[in-house]
Amino acid sequence: MLSEADNELLTRIGRDTPMGDMMRRYWMPICLAEEVAEPDGDPVTSTVLGERLVVFRDSFGGVGVLREGCPHRRASLAIGRNEEGGLRCIYHGWKFDRTGACIDMPSEPPGSTFLSKLRNQGYPTREAGGIIWSYLGPADKEPVFPQYDWITAPAETRALVKVGQRANYLQALEGSIDSSHSWFLHRGTVMDWEKRTSVSTDTSPRMEVEDTDYGFRYAAVRTPNSNPDTKKYVRVTLWAFPFISMIPRPEERQQPYLAALFVPVDDERTMMYSVFVGQDGSPLSTHAIREENVAVPGIDLDSEWFRLGQPMNRYLQDRAAMRAGNWTGIRGFIHQDAACSESMGAIADRTDEHLGQSDRAITRVRRRLLESVRRTMQGDDPIGVTSAIPFGSLRSGQFVIQKDESWQHVLEGSLA
Ligand code: FES
Ligand SMILES: [Fe+2]
Repeated sequence: MLSEADNELLTRIGRDTPMGDMMRRYWMPICLAEEVAEPDGDPVTSTVLGERLVVFRDSFGGVGVLREGCPHRRASLAIGRNEEGGLRCIYHGWKFDRTGACIDMPSEPPGSTFLSKLRNQGYPTREAGGIIWSYLGPADKEPVFPQYDWITAPAETRALVKVGQRANYLQALEGSIDSSHSWFLHRGTVMDWEKRTSVSTDTSPRMEVEDTDYGFRYAAVRTPNSNPDTKKYVRVTLWAFPFISMIPRPEERQQPYLAALFVPVDDERTMMYSVFVGQDGSPLSTHAIREENVAVPGIDLDSEWFRLGQPMNRYLQDRAAMRAGNWTGIRGFIHQDAACSESMGAIADRTDEHLGQSDRAITRVRRRLLESVRRTMQGDDPIGVTSAIPFGSLRSGQFVIQKDESWQHVLEGSLA
């Protein structure tokens, strides 16, 4: 349970809110690189932290992330012309390069110096891991770009899924560090379900949470089906600022591992990027991953990211299937998560909830976010922006080990 003031502090991310200021201190996913694949191709819009942005790839192959509204009289540059090294507003022809500099102003008289004084707001960009990233914070505070292994993995081993939720980022994010729910909500759905339940059918994990310089990690410790008196089954999830979850990496090397990012669109909407990576360099089929995890018959997610099953169609829940033994009647774990998270309301009322022992990671993520936002309110750096963090070697994991063995030790050993 939280106070109303803390719930507000955690969930409001617009410009000039404390959490909005904190979030702007990290690199933000803006869209998939494939959405702006072609030089001079169609620009796309993306709203991040409440800011309406336009993204385009110019004639030279570079990507620009600018404010969507033209600085002249605010017409959208998303309906502009992408040509000859810049994006030209169709209203009066003003043109901007990918940094936001105004490079043509044909509606002003020849010799006018207005052009040299005018810029659109442009943001630093990176193209990495199949994602276009941008930094929306103060120029003198740009952090190191975090080179996680799921960002630097070869493109053919990676598959990306981008799906929206009509809910605040925090409740979407909380679902991803809630090891307990997967035994219920995702029963029979997740990729390694059979393997998992053959290892353990314990539904009430003991949570061991540990702060780190990137955020925290936690172990969900369960009693295994075999040797319950001498062994334990441990699933370690990593959580990194400001909204990244690294789900326990399957022990079976043929299964991909997964990182999930919960990017605030505005206070009441979230864009979730799921990054699947084949272990040992095995290639992954983006099409198959999307088909398996997101597709619902009759819904084309490629053309409209927000068209999930909806509250009004009860997430296409199949009651007959439920009576026949299916736990949710909802297809795909992404839809199952969205159904629960959206059904809490756009911003969950955390003054009226009852957290149990299995919610210890939920409590911790709120505490860490509050800690970091209070630091930035006092003028200090937020947590997780230091270049000392070994982003590339952070690993989640799961294993059955001796009851008295340290999971930290086993996890670190898996890196060797
Ligand atoms: S509004 Fe864009 S050029 Fe006038
Ligand atoms: Fe889930």
